[in-house]
Amino acid sequence: MDATKLRRAIARTPFAPVAAFPKRLARVARHDAKVLRTSARWLLTSREHHNYTYELTKLSRHHLAWFVSVVCDVPVKQVRAYFGEIESDDVLRRHIESATAGAARRGLADRHVRYARRIGWYAIVRATRPQHVVETGVDKGLGSCVLAAALLRNAAEGHPGRVTSLDINPEAGYLARTAPWSEVVDLVIGDSIASIAALDRPVDLFLHDSDHSRAHEKREFEAVEGKLAPGAILLTDNVTATNVLAEHAERTGRKFLAYRETPANHWYPGDGIGVAW
Ligand SMILES: C[S@@+](CC[C@H](N)C(=O)[O-])C[C@H]1O[C@@H](n2cnc3c(N)ncnc32)[C@H](O)[C@@H]1O
Repeated sequence: MDATKLRRAIARTPFAPVAAFPKRLARVARHDAKVLRTSARWLLTSREHHNYTYELTKLSRHHLAWFVSVVCDVPVKQVRAYFGEIESDDVLRRHIESATAGAARRGLADRHVRYARRIGWYAIVRATRPQHVVETGVDKGLGSCVLAAALLRNAAEGHPGRVTSLDINPEAGYLARTAPWSEVVDLVIGDSIASIAALDRPVDLFLHDSDHSRAHEKREFEAVEGKLAPGAILLTDNVTATNVLAEHAERTGRKFLAYRETPANHWYPGDGIGVAW
């Protein structure tokens, strides 16, 4: 019996998994060793303890460009140009680096600026030119800065807009308290549900990125529904964890799509962007 016939014969027996064990072990060991190497490097080189930052893999960046292109109905080349804008914005990059270096929480933040999926938020704001963006959950203010940078570019092209950034932590948003970005950011401190209820202008683009419990995410989308401008876009940062926005989209007659990011050189599996429109 030749080797192929022997392998096929073994594959039909209960001993097949045992015979395949060395190959299976090598595969999983290679994968786990890569995760361990990345994790060890991160433990030694990063200071972050939550809300991790990283670059996207090249492939993940390509997929994000197509995701934004489909959702916003703009050519993918245009989306790539928007990505290029935020990635080559050295003034913003230097501001984030120096504000991080001088911040009270500098011991728990990396100076190197990495936007990950936030370049998708940037491109959505550039493509849709909202007058009023609401972001729930601010943390250091990295997302607020990215959204503000897009709004400032829109304003320079004759389409002004502002972002209302909501966080329960009074120390949140320190990156977004410097001009010119602060000129289009309204930081509101308090529980997001109460802050959404107090909004006094229609919302064109809403981004959930605060308390990522299912219940809170659902409450935010329910609270903002009556505040939305016609044709508003809803985003969630929680799409890899819950189906809340998809269910909300179905209930309210919207379309829904999810993008899952892949971080480059990071142990964290990544988050994503859920969108209802
Ligand atoms: C994941 S971080 C936000 C990240 C930010 N959008 C960014 O781009 O880096 C989550 C934030 O939500 C805030 N948060 C948690 N519960 C909240 C609530 N009930 N209302 C408002 N903000 C809340 C936390 O204080 C924290 O700063």
